[in-house]
Amino acid sequence: MSAGHGDRPAPPSGERSHAIESVLVENRTFDPPAELSAHAQVASLADYEALYARAARDPEGFWAEQASELHWATPWTAVMQGGFPTRATDPAPRWFVGGTLNASVSCLDRHAAGPRANKAALMFEGEPGDTRVLTYAQLHREVCRAANALTGLGIRAGDFVAIYMPMVPEAAIAMLACARIGAPHTVVFGGFSSEALSDRIKDCKAKLVITADGGWRRGQIVPLKANVDQAVAGSTVEKVLVLKRCANEVAWSERDVWWHDVVATASPKHTPAAFDSEHPLFTLYTSGSTGKPKGIVHTTGGYLTNAHYTTKLVFDLKDRDVFWCTADIGWVTGHSYVVYGPLAAGATVLLYEGAPNQPGPDRFWDIVARWGVTILYTAPTAIRAFMRWGDEHPAKHDLSSLRLLGSVGEPINPEAWMWYRTTIGGDRCPIVDTWWQTETGSIMISPLPGATPTKPGSATRPLPGVAAEIVHKDGTVCGPNQGGFLVVRAPWPGMLRTIAGDHERFVATYFSEVAGCYFAGDGARKDSDGYVWVMGRVDDVINVAGHRLSTMEVESALVSHPKVAEAAVVGRPDELKGQAIVAFVTPKLGVTADDALATELRAHVATQIGALARPEEIRFAEALPKTRSGKIMRRLLREVASGSTARGDTTTLEDQGVLESLAQSFSADD
Ligand code: PRX
Repeated sequence: MSAGHGDRPAPPSGERSHAIESVLVENRTFDPPAELSAHAQVASLADYEALYARAARDPEGFWAEQASELHWATPWTAVMQGGFPTRATDPAPRWFVGGTLNASVSCLDRHAAGPRANKAALMFEGEPGDTRVLTYAQLHREVCRAANALTGLGIRAGDFVAIYMPMVPEAAIAMLACARIGAPHTVVFGGFSSEALSDRIKDCKAKLVITADGGWRRGQIVPLKANVDQAVAGSTVEKVLVLKRCANEVAWSERDVWWHDVVATASPKHTPAAFDSEHPLFTLYTSGSTGKPKGIVHTTGGYLTNAHYTTKLVFDLKDRDVFWCTADIGWVTGHSYVVYGPLAAGATVLLYEGAPNQPGPDRFWDIVARWGVTILYTAPTAIRAFMRWGDEHPAKHDLSSLRLLGSVGEPINPEAWMWYRTTIGGDRCPIVDTWWQTETGSIMISPLPGATPTKPGSATRPLPGVAAEIVHKDGTVCGPNQGGFLVVRAPWPGMLRTIAGDHERFVATYFSEVAGCYFAGDGARKDSDGYVWVMGRVDDVINVAGHRLSTMEVESALVSHPKVAEAAVVGRPDELKGQAIVAFVTPKLGVTADDALATELRAHVATQIGALARPEEIRFAEALPKTRSGKIMRRLLREVASGSTARGDTTTLEDQGVLESLAQSFSADD
């Protein structure tokens, strides 16, 4: 591919200069470094294309090959059964039908029984600076102990366990112990409030919650146990298992059990049962376009196959790598690329508990240098924050161990991409910009570091096995640079199987918008090299600092306040966070709309959902603009919200226009 050819339409004259710079940067391409390609699993664009074509010709053969890299107790009798659902009662496709396995055996036992037994599985650094390393053999023993302890607490296969933990090794141990006994877990991000935790516990009818007394964040203790105490009141929870992490004071009741009393004392031997390939591994709640988060259900064989395959391929994983995915285990990225993918692949995983600027803005770079991190996988919001904090912080540390960089969670603007490449990657490390979703389970569109020339801001091309396409609403394929819906046209093993308790919503949400396709809300375009440029959501989901929120979820939180009559929430472009939340609020009659009320409402949202959902700005309005049928005109509000502020760098003006028109055809709301 030649450098510098661009087919992106030129911006209209008079646009801000950064938009022009952005176009110039976007049109550059960067070839994979020759040394990396020489040892890569997929070593050239031609090899990628051959592999893609092979998978497209024989998807079942291709996925069977990937699945056979896991440890199966019983082989499957059919690779796949069914297809995308079309009617409300149709089941999702089933993968590796009849096969049985135990996810924790693929992640642990097989490594602990071989040459990786004494290889570091988890390398942990707490925010205060405490460290621990667990080898595969040690991690295996800890997970066996935890599995025995969970069984002792009455947990059986099929029982739900909620996990609300800081980023410490026990969080991964808890997940793997659940997997080991067939108890699906639902991990709730420690930044969610007790209300949000309570909703999720109730929705999945959890029998047990695993938590800690607290977790460290910016030198403060996050009161996890206190939040759990509030959340479990009146729920199905029978026991709360508590890890002592910060030694802060906690209230104690009969339901509570210390981790060190039951796990540390349990036997390190455990004979695992094998579960059906379609046995649920976890439910992870994420925001949709309604007020209520949906429980995305993933199963064992298909999910693990996909997580393992993508970890090896996208990160071109080698046994010597130190793999650091900075996501919290409360998000899907933490599930797939802190725990299941890298451990299934026998990698050394780095786990860091705290904030990137604690005690100083160079904490990440200090960690990279001290632990010899080779692969760093983080989010554009973090990268933009590092840019803002200044180049002197990474400059203080030796980052030469890094060989590959990754980006996930939101579109990365070309300027941040270039900074990441130059300042962190020393112009030496390729960047894999990986597009995927909680629903897809693992990476779907991404460069392969040894094969794909990259363009700053593009997730490049779909992985082999992934039939991703950009289409019009009627399903016809868009031409080069035409904006359309990003869909997947054939099932893949790691796709979600349902929305917990609401299969009808599952079919309606993902399979009815574009006939015959999976569609989950993104607008995108492909350039004439077939490179995908993800533009952002076309539904009412907003992406704040890589965290997914629904406008309606925040609206519900606002209207639950006694002084609020009505609220409408929109996202506006934000230079740092990608999108920022702006809330238009009509107070009840007689209520004074002032700064004090705005502060009160922002705090109220933080209590209802979590600090991550706190609106950046609250604008009071006597009435909200509505259509004749009474629907709030969000598009108008989005324009108002963006109008007064400088446009963020994350989307260019023309992308924004395309998104608006896609959003119109997507929902009748506007
Ligand atoms: O809009 C896309 C954006 O994040 C959404 C999925 O969010 P979530 O389920 O929380 O998963 C995040 C981690 C995979 C997508 O619908 N998104 C994710 N990765 C990218 C992205 N947008 C652009 N480029 C990406 N690489």
